[in-house]
Amino acid sequence: MAAPDPKIVEELRQLRDRINHHNRLYYVEDNPEISDAEFDRLFDRLLEIEKQHPELVTPDSPSHRVGFAPSVRFEPLAHRLPMLSLQKVTSSEEFDEFDRRVREGLEISGDADYVTEPKLDGLAVELIYEDGFFVRGATRGDGAVGENITPNLKTIKNIPLRLSDDAAGRYPLLEVRGEVIMRRTAFAKLNEYLVEQNLAPLANPRNGAAGSLRQLDPSVTARRPLIFYAYGISDTTLPGLESQSQAAEFLKSQGFAVHQLVNQAKGAKQVAAAFDKLAGVRERLDYDIDGMVIKVDRFLDQTLLGQISRAPRWAVAWKFAAEEATTVLEGVEFSVGRTGIVTPVAKLKPVRVGGVVVSNASLHNQDELRALDARIGDTVVVRRAGDVIPEVVSVLTEKRPPKAKTVRFPAGCPSCGTEIVRPEGEAAHRCLNAACPAQLEGRLFHFASKGGLDIEGLGGKLARQLIAQGLVKDPSDLFFITKERLLPLDLMAEKRASNLVAAIDRSRGTELPKIIYALGIVGVGEAAARLLAEHFVSFERLEKAGLEELTQIQGIGPVMAENIRGYFSNDGNRQMLAKLRKGGLKFADYKKSVAGNRLNGKAFVITGSLSKPRNHFKNIIEQNGGRVSGSVSAKTDYVLAGADPGSKLTKARKLGVPILDESRFEQLLG
Ligand code: IVH
Repeated sequence: MAAPDPKIVEELRQLRDRINHHNRLYYVEDNPEISDAEFDRLFDRLLEIEKQHPELVTPDSPSHRVGFAPSVRFEPLAHRLPMLSLQKVTSSEEFDEFDRRVREGLEISGDADYVTEPKLDGLAVELIYEDGFFVRGATRGDGAVGENITPNLKTIKNIPLRLSDDAAGRYPLLEVRGEVIMRRTAFAKLNEYLVEQNLAPLANPRNGAAGSLRQLDPSVTARRPLIFYAYGISDTTLPGLESQSQAAEFLKSQGFAVHQLVNQAKGAKQVAAAFDKLAGVRERLDYDIDGMVIKVDRFLDQTLLGQISRAPRWAVAWKFAAEEATTVLEGVEFSVGRTGIVTPVAKLKPVRVGGVVVSNASLHNQDELRALDARIGDTVVVRRAGDVIPEVVSVLTEKRPPKAKTVRFPAGCPSCGTEIVRPEGEAAHRCLNAACPAQLEGRLFHFASKGGLDIEGLGGKLARQLIAQGLVKDPSDLFFITKERLLPLDLMAEKRASNLVAAIDRSRGTELPKIIYALGIVGVGEAAARLLAEHFVSFERLEKAGLEELTQIQGIGPVMAENIRGYFSNDGNRQMLAKLRKGGLKFADYKKSVAGNRLNGKAFVITGSLSKPRNHFKNIIEQNGGRVSGSVSAKTDYVLAGADPGSKLTKARKLGVPILDESRFEQLLG
């Protein structure tokens, strides 16, 4: 055999060291330095080289491990049956390939029976029940030996400490496996607390769960809101439990939480549909999932298929596109929004995150910027979850180049140069110059946006040009624009100009709630604008409304009322409103174009994953005279709850607020 390339030998050695290092940070210290995606890349490269050069595989290669050796702080607990790891796929083609191997292995020509489950991103544990009592529990550890964390597990409120007598009789030894997770909201609170106590915040909810569970003092664990979801039993030869789906039913009957999104699927097509559905609800869940686990349902089939080294042949993890990636911070710009808030924006070397290319990310505000201490030239971790704005979550300081440049918050507004201030009690800096071009651009864009006057063709670029050319000094100027004045603008052809003028003309008849929203009064979103229109019916009455009347409206708080009052008493705004009238904006009285008023005045809170996006239900509620708010209180009339509703449901129960599922909601609508 030819001697291996020394370069490869060296690369392999470095990979092993780095992976071991990051494994330790992740599993033992609960404090990772690199993103999961980056770790996966290192690991994939290791596997690739080892596959090509089996002679170079060392007995201590991290590829032999499924996790990390247990920490010395806890007693080791050997698993009677190993806790395996999962192979992963990242596309439907790759899943089809898995499915093909399953059918081949089982010698079936039709569809295989699967169970699809969310892949919860927490800490895997095993719970042991002897004669019906929860006696011991452990982390997964390296798959063979975990850490005995029994006292800590006992503090998790949804772990049953006893099985039914019947189950105890049938299964004198029962090992239950599942994931301990921390909700995102609980995680955020925990971090707030840690920062308050001058302690280091945790990187993500997974580390929140792991860190909380692996506390030496169980009373600390007890104060952390952890949840256990059961996803299986270790021993698949127990009488009466012949499949994953039967096991799930049994676990439910014993009081274990089994995830609501666990479903059966026949064949690869149904699996792919389940995956898309899961990806669609992912962002609405209050905890992290990083993909879907697909298991061959029948235990007998699982046994037939067996396993290869670290993973079963009967199950696979279909991972979502990575939501985190590392890239280089090339600069920081400061952008000014329509309300004058100055936000630091990271300019990044373009990188793919969660399926899209990201080159800008929010750095939020001065405090966040300081806490991150991101310097230009730094390698940073960027995160993009669903539709939210990408953000920089951490800095890999070990990769910092010697010349990395510190970022300073500017003293003056980057758009107009006016000194920027940080009002007391606020995290944000503001430019207080109402004539600031950047603010004006933001206001114009908001004015013309879908929720506002819905002027098609008026995007951010055009807004900038109109302002730069002096054609628009406030949104009302739009109504005095002619085609002739538009034509000299960049990229403005005849057709585009007449379309824009026509769109502006159409907007003169905009209905009242949208006009109110378009004004951009601080805090007044679409829902509040609708409330105001409903209450006052005529715009003139709203203009004259006093604080007292405003605060009497359910859903309008004192701060918003002040903002509204402040807006209408400002001379500049009054002049602009007069110009809007002169320009032909109709301000017609509000007529409810309601589908019905069966929900008149009713306050709803929507929670959990429903069959359609939340906005769909929100629209129905509003069209029927109801309104939707974000949190449950004594004023809430109904909670509309879908799958996996979380803490809002608990609160509703506590307050005795009626809870509707979709079908009862439809009944209510008649
Ligand atoms: S089944 C052989 N089901 O994923 C079966 N695992 O790589 C292995 N995980 O850390 C486990 N959700 O904790 C299974 N519904 C689920 C899961 C799940 C999350 C985690 C598990 C382990 C990793 C396996």
